[in-house]
Amino acid sequence: MKKAVEYIEKNRERFLEELFGLIRIPSVSADPVHKEDMLRATEYLRDNLLASGADQAEVIPTEGHPVVYAEKVTDPSLPTVLIYGHYDVQPAEPLELWDSPPFEPEVREGKIYARGADDDKGQMFMHVKAFEAMVHTDTLPCNVKFMIEGEEEIGSPSLKKFCSDHKEMLAADVILISDTTMLAPDIPSITVGLRGLAYMEVEVTGPNRDLHSGLYGGAVMNPANALAKMIAALTDEDHRITIPGFYDDVLEVSEEERAEMAKAPFDPEAFRRSIGIEREVGEKGFTTPERTGIRPSLDVNGIWGGYTGEGAKTVLPAKAYAKISMRLVPHQRSEKIAKLFAEYFPTLAPGGVTVKVEYLHGGEGYVSPITSVEYQAAAKAMEETFGKKPIPVRSGGSIPIVSVFEDVLGIKSILMGFGLDEDAIHSPNESYPLFNFYKGIETIPWFYHYYREMKK
Ligand code: BES
Ligand code: MN
Ligand code: MN
Repeated sequence: MKKAVEYIEKNRERFLEELFGLIRIPSVSADPVHKEDMLRATEYLRDNLLASGADQAEVIPTEGHPVVYAEKVTDPSLPTVLIYGHYDVQPAEPLELWDSPPFEPEVREGKIYARGADDDKGQMFMHVKAFEAMVHTDTLPCNVKFMIEGEEEIGSPSLKKFCSDHKEMLAADVILISDTTMLAPDIPSITVGLRGLAYMEVEVTGPNRDLHSGLYGGAVMNPANALAKMIAALTDEDHRITIPGFYDDVLEVSEEERAEMAKAPFDPEAFRRSIGIEREVGEKGFTTPERTGIRPSLDVNGIWGGYTGEGAKTVLPAKAYAKISMRLVPHQRSEKIAKLFAEYFPTLAPGGVTVKVEYLHGGEGYVSPITSVEYQAAAKAMEETFGKKPIPVRSGGSIPIVSVFEDVLGIKSILMGFGLDEDAIHSPNESYPLFNFYKGIETIPWFYHYYREMKK
């Protein structure tokens, strides 16, 4: 390992420059104007993987954005590690809230500032450079495959088909992913649970045109008023979701496991301060980490209709809309939850309006055991470089492809992430500390080392 560490040390600056080259390509998957940039990002990665030591690397088209695939398979008797990551990023808007342009990476006070600095370009690229370090020092202990996709931020719509079409190519013993967070820079953790997702859009329609709110107000059901009532009715005073059958398949976590989870450090005061709230609010009977980790939730992501411009316009809108997401936990299924929502939501309408519900996308949750060889290998790797055993945590976020990997390929994933909550992923001024970037590159070879050792 000494040789790999020296190699990383010697090439630190170049690794960062190469990451910056990737970040400069605005690969926003949600926006069709960036279609060319998506292609440029895949070519950049393919070329970098080849230069880093892959025997083979290619850009494979899908029904949506292409996938970058690369491999170095040296000996079929060795274990095979499949690295997954995503090169697509969230839109950078609102641009005026950034202190430096989102696609011009800049280091300030030890942190890289840019869209994708953490999620997931910074984290994914650590794997490419750790791979390079192992190849160039002749210390790669396993076969390696890379699958880097471009649709994660839009729910990976084409990836299920991609996986079932390429089962053989993707065959591996374990999938290693860095696209999650650690508890703190000095508190390593491994994510052992992700939430699923069902994302809905609703449209409430009233009169056939926007009306004068004086001439008609009080006599016509206002779709925005109706929508507000309907959304309010989706949760009760205990902050439980009212959709009939919603909790039927929720896996109740045992008291022992809850006690175990409660050992992970959590500072409510710091939590409140970091996001500027006075108090936490959520489902009765659960702590804040439980509310995001083991319980489902329902949130309005956006709501609009009527007049939202400057000043006042007296209008009773013809239509009102909302985007509503539900985060799910094992064993809730996104299709079923979407169906329950679509059946229930229109029944909440107060009359005088019609309701349309559309299911935009969804994905399933995930849990992995801490007793597996792969978890233990990741834990030993982190212990090696942080000097502390990592804590297993269930995250509230989603990575839809992880359950697809399990269902379609039959392979478990290890979520060894190096991000921090304060990196502000998806927000303006996303950042990633240089410390975490290099710590990740240094930790990854230890995973390969222990995995090979323990897998035998
Ligand atoms: N990397 C995140 C997910 C994440 C972040 C999980 C931190 C755990 C800790 C991923 O890129 C993401 O943003 N996922 C989306 C999925 C959605 C678009 C289907 C999410 O969770 O909203
Ligand atoms: Mn991500
Ligand atoms: Mn993301």
